[in-house]
Amino acid sequence: MDQFIMKGGVPLRGEVMIGGAKNAALGIIAGALLTDDDVIIENLPDVRDINVMLEALKEIGAKVDRENRHTVRINATNVDSVSIDDEYIRKIRASYYFIGALLGKYHRAMVPLPGGCAIGSRPIDQHIKGFRALGSGVQIKNGCVQAEAKTGLKGAHIYLDVVSVGATINIMLASVLAEGRTIIENVAKEPHIVDVANFLNSMGANIKGAGTDTIRIRGVQKLHGTDYAVIPDQIEAGTFMCAAAATRGDVLIKNVIPKHLESISAKLLEMGNTIYEYDEAIRVIGTAELRPTDVKTLPYPGFPTDMQPQISVVLALANGTSVVTESIFENRFKYVDELARMGSNIKVEGNVSVIDGVHGFTGASVNALDLRAGAALVIAGLAAEGITTVNEIGFIQRGYEHFEKKLQALGAQIEAVSSERDAQKFRLKVS
Ligand code: EPZ
Repeated sequence: MDQFIMKGGVPLRGEVMIGGAKNAALGIIAGALLTDDDVIIENLPDVRDINVMLEALKEIGAKVDRENRHTVRINATNVDSVSIDDEYIRKIRASYYFIGALLGKYHRAMVPLPGGCAIGSRPIDQHIKGFRALGSGVQIKNGCVQAEAKTGLKGAHIYLDVVSVGATINIMLASVLAEGRTIIENVAKEPHIVDVANFLNSMGANIKGAGTDTIRIRGVQKLHGTDYAVIPDQIEAGTFMCAAAATRGDVLIKNVIPKHLESISAKLLEMGNTIYEYDEAIRVIGTAELRPTDVKTLPYPGFPTDMQPQISVVLALANGTSVVTESIFENRFKYVDELARMGSNIKVEGNVSVIDGVHGFTGASVNALDLRAGAALVIAGLAAEGITTVNEIGFIQRGYEHFEKKLQALGAQIEAVSSERDAQKFRLKVS
């Protein structure tokens, strides 16, 4: 029953602090297995996917101490298993990073095939291609990936057929302790790739080229401990940027790296919003008359696929027609049917959506079908006239820490409720 219930129509105003990048932290947590020294990770987002990964580390014997909500100390000395499997780890996509890390350190790994948001088929063939190139046998058995490098791992020259964030990070994890040099070509260049590489280098790895098309790794004998702070979350920041624009608000988004947000800023500027960039903050002032524009999702530095639902909600309120092309995933428009319940006018043909902007949305009960779709529907509800309930908010809580609390601090009338009675109380309070 967990829902977000909100009364829209209030322009968001004020300041919001962005947390650590979920998609960097997930790879970094797995990377902590690569040493027997203490690894301290700071600026961890306190979200479900992160906590599932930390629990999985404990299950195989690692010591995991939460120093505070956003800092954890991990020590893998007493890891006594290379087989990770529990009902929670099966639900998340990032479980695959344990394959690369366990293989890299122990030359063996058994991990369930990954779960994650239903936004496409999400194969892991490129991950497996990389592991095999490094000398590991890999087979899929009983729904698990079983990998073993009987004679150890040797550096290789790997060309990724698809630009893949997960495969890029996973092959880095598997190769930092391999013998010799590894070259990975056609890699992903997202900020979180660079962050994982910087983390591993802070442990004594020798990785060059992260953030470019080619990553070069010289295997080292051993890695040592580190104390590392995760970069700010580009997608959480972008989500709040879109919320400011959709509600015609004025929001200062703090603890960000503006350069990571350039493609999102560019689109919001094209739509007529005003943006001020500071060293570690960005201010978005929404325009009353949103202009249409076209968006095509691409690997970084292109427009992020994880921002496609959110920017589409803003475009759905623009004065004209926009075209959105989703070139990364094959099924990332599921939120469109939910948004239609609020009065949007969007047609989807394959991986293209044609958005005819409407003057405004009306509140409705809608379902979060995946993490970013859920966040987008909350943005729509905050812009809508009347009451909106977003159901299945567990998806949203996988990747956004205290989402409703941060929105409340910006003036949003929104609450997390878990019963019809609480929902009724909210309705009475805002009526
Ligand atoms: C990561 O998923 C993120 N998840 C996703 O974020 C993000 O949307 C995606 O990267 C793209 O940026 C995590 O980091 C946990 P990919 P991942 O491998 O690694 C195809 C969110 O909202 N592909 O870059 O699964 C794949 O099908 C989530 O936080 C292969 O064909 O994405 C897709 O079409 C959603 N073979 C494309 O590549 C492979 O072996 C990009 O996928 C791997 C991927």
